[in-house]
Amino acid sequence: MPEPSTLSAAAPSFAVETQDVRKQYPGVLALSGLSLAIPPGEIFALLGPNGAGKTTWISLVCGLVRATSGRASVFGHDVVHDAVAARKLVGLVPQEVGFDPFFTPREALRFQMGYFGIRPDDARVDEVLGAMGLSAKADTNTRALSGGMKRRLLIAKALVHRPRVLFLDEPTAGVDVGLRRDLWDYVRALRAGGTTIVLTTHYLEEVEALADRVAVIDQGRLVTLDTPKELLARHGSRRLRVTFASALATSPGVLSEGLRAAGAEIDATGRVVTCPIDARDLSPVLAAFAAVPVPVVDIETQQPSLEQVFLELTGKKLS
Ligand SMILES: Nc1ncnc2c1ncn2[C@@H]1O[C@H](COP(=O)(O)OP(=O)(O)OP(=O)(O)O)[C@@H](O)[C@H]1O
Ligand SMILES: [Mg+2]
Repeated sequence: MPEPSTLSAAAPSFAVETQDVRKQYPGVLALSGLSLAIPPGEIFALLGPNGAGKTTWISLVCGLVRATSGRASVFGHDVVHDAVAARKLVGLVPQEVGFDPFFTPREALRFQMGYFGIRPDDARVDEVLGAMGLSAKADTNTRALSGGMKRRLLIAKALVHRPRVLFLDEPTAGVDVGLRRDLWDYVRALRAGGTTIVLTTHYLEEVEALADRVAVIDQGRLVTLDTPKELLARHGSRRLRVTFASALATSPGVLSEGLRAAGAEIDATGRVVTCPIDARDLSPVLAAFAAVPVPVVDIETQQPSLEQVFLELTGKKLS
């Protein structure tokens, strides 16, 4: 991974770079010195609990919110001092759905192109509507679109001017599995065409399926940044889950010293014990379970999940 460098318009190494950005709202420090550098062509995920600062960071890079301090650039264009150039390079799918209900998708896309100083081009409008599965609704009033179709239109609007960086702020919140998969395919195709993608999501499967790297943020700060695979390797562990025929709490000396030392925990029912395991040799821990004087009725291994990593890193559940 390239090291963050100083901002340079001549040869930008990063599609998006922020250096020590802070955002102070009255009474809330939404970002407290966040530095991130995203190379071109990456699919980069921002993960964090509600209120972590994800939307604020994206809004700041897209020029919708002004940082209290620090700097942000898009392909070397400072978002404040070179705002027009920076803005033209980004497309944003906002978290909140908001539309003028009296326009049709076709009109909305034509306006969007005009807004970016591009001549409205029906071929491009049709191409984007087609890609989003909205061709049949091109000339229908937006208020007559379903919720999922409105989300698709938001994505079409963010794409129509061919941005080099696409920000997707929870693009699949409340969206059915079919559309979610379609969107993943589309995001991969965009990246194959050279677009850099930044997305926030509360679906960890989305991060695992798509992201090259993931930044976990909490309270406006970076907690960790790595590939999903590395995060899992560093923080996740496989676990053994053993179910007993009856609650262990009633048996004397249920968990041996060895099991407790290995980090075994009993759930609230008293019947299920989970224990982190070292993949190389399961025999000692299996022997320790076998020594418990209650019959084992089920045994399974659980793969590490990003959910577990996230919980460990932030102490919070994701959603
Ligand atoms: N316009 C605003 N005025 C005041 N406070 C704000 C404003 N926008 C955001 N905040 C606060 O800044 C913090 C970060 O909010 P932000 O929307 O960036 O979080 P988020 O990570 O996107 O959360 P979520 O997962 O819920 O979308 C929150 O405490 C929020 O209440
Ligand atoms: Mg948000």
